[in-house]
Formats: sequence, structure tokens, C-alpha cells
Amino acid sequence: MSKQQIMNVEEAFLEIDNQTMGIVIERSKEFVRLMTYYRCAMMEVETKLNVLNQEFSLRHDRNPISSIKSRLKTMPSIIEKMERRQIPMDLDAIETNLTDIAGIRVICAFEQDVYTLAKALLSQDDITLIEQKDYIANPKPNGYRSLHLIVSVPIFLQNEKRVMKVEIQLRTIAMDCWASLDHQLRYKKHHEFTNEMAEELLSCAIMSAQLDRRMDELREKVEYDD
Ligand code: GTP
Ligand code: MG
Repeated sequence: MSKQQIMNVEEAFLEIDNQTMGIVIERSKEFVRLMTYYRCAMMEVETKLNVLNQEFSLRHDRNPISSIKSRLKTMPSIIEKMERRQIPMDLDAIETNLTDIAGIRVICAFEQDVYTLAKALLSQDDITLIEQKDYIANPKPNGYRSLHLIVSVPIFLQNEKRVMKVEIQLRTIAMDCWASLDHQLRYKKHHEFTNEMAEELLSCAIMSAQLDRRMDELREKVEYDD
């Protein structure tokens, strides 16, 4: 937003009557409440993943999860996505149409760990799988790999139970390294993303998939000897 646009918004606010202002404040509170529910759902899923990590490390003497990163979608990017999809903005429509407001990225040591964790999580009786995209078995044409799950999980509030959607991206360290490089190059300001760069990135993705496969073979040998 430019300085002028901010000033226009501020001026418009000064002209709002009390009744309209009351509605604006109420809507904002409802939005914050919805975001809090998403944050709680994210915490639930994160705890589940941490529990699985702990149990796995007891059994196998190593951690399948290298790190977990969580984020809530920001208000501007919620608005941008709803506008892009030409969906009128209201809280119900946001909840129905956006599945990635609560996002968790799980970085695993090995490719097999991605599937072991996903299977264990999805077998829990309060988790419902809404959608699964396996970009590891079927990488995107640009080379992107990850396992994407959209799940729903209940959160228990004082007087009600709410079922919320959470997007989980599971990937290896090599997949994460590639994805963050891809993201940086693709969205770099004042710099064209050329065909040559796309080809080079695809070739890096193929190398990173080979690396994951070889590391997983090594892991199999070591764990078989255990
Ligand atoms: P959106 O949810 O609108 O993005 O579309 P979609 O549901 O078709 O996307 P998808 O589930 O395939 O991917 C959603 C998320 O995965 C993105 O927001 C990124 O975080 C990640 N992602 C998907 N494709 C790429 C890619 O080519 N490169 C990188 N770096 N990340 C990707
Ligand atoms: Mg999506």
C-alpha cells in the first residue's frame, strides 16, 4: 500500500459512523477468533508430529524429523487468494475455500520417513484426510517434490468442538533445499526467470532426487544391520 492509499484509508475511517465502526470492530474480532482456531489446530498437529518423532527415536535411535516450520496465512495473502479466485470475502467462504490458512512444513531426514510419518499421522482416529498430493512419486514438471496433505483435526473449545483444516507439506532436507532455492530465484525482484534457469533447476531437482534415493538405500543397509 502506498503512503497516499494509507492516508485515504485513514481519512475514510474518520468519516465512518458509530454503527458501521461497530460492525468493522465485530468483523475484525471474528477474523482474529477464526485465526486463533487455525493456530490451535496447527498446534494440535504439531504436537502429534512431535509425539511420533519421540516414539520413533526410542525405537530406531534417530529422529525422522529434522525440523518443523509452521505459519498462519497473513490477512493480505488471504485477501489476494480470495480475489484471485473471485470468491466474495466472508469468514465462511474463507473457511470453505482456503485449505492452507494453517500450514505446517515437516522436514525429514530420509524419503522413507516422509511416508512413515504421513501413514502414522493419517491412521490417527481424529485426523481426516481431505486431499493428498504426492509430488514425490509424481514430481511437478519443474522438478518440485514434496508430499502434500490436507487434513482436518478437531479442536476442543470451552463449549464446542471445531473441526479445522491444516495443510501439511512433508519433504526431505534435499527437497526443502531445492524448494527454497526455487522460490528465491522465481520471485527475485528485478530479475528475469529464464528458460535456462528453469532447465538448470530441473536438473538440480533430478540430482536431489537421486541423492535422496541413494541416502535412503544407505539408511536401509544401516537399519537392516541393527
Ligand atoms: P495453491 O494452494 O493456490 O498454491 O495451489 P495448489 O493447491 O494447486 O498448490 P499445491 O498444493 O500444489 O502447492 C501449494 C504449496 O506448495 C505452495 O504454496 C508452495 O508452498 C508449495 N509449492 C508448490 N509448488 C511449488 C514449486 O514449484 N516450488 C516451490 N518452491 N514450492 C511449491
Ligand atoms: Mg493448495
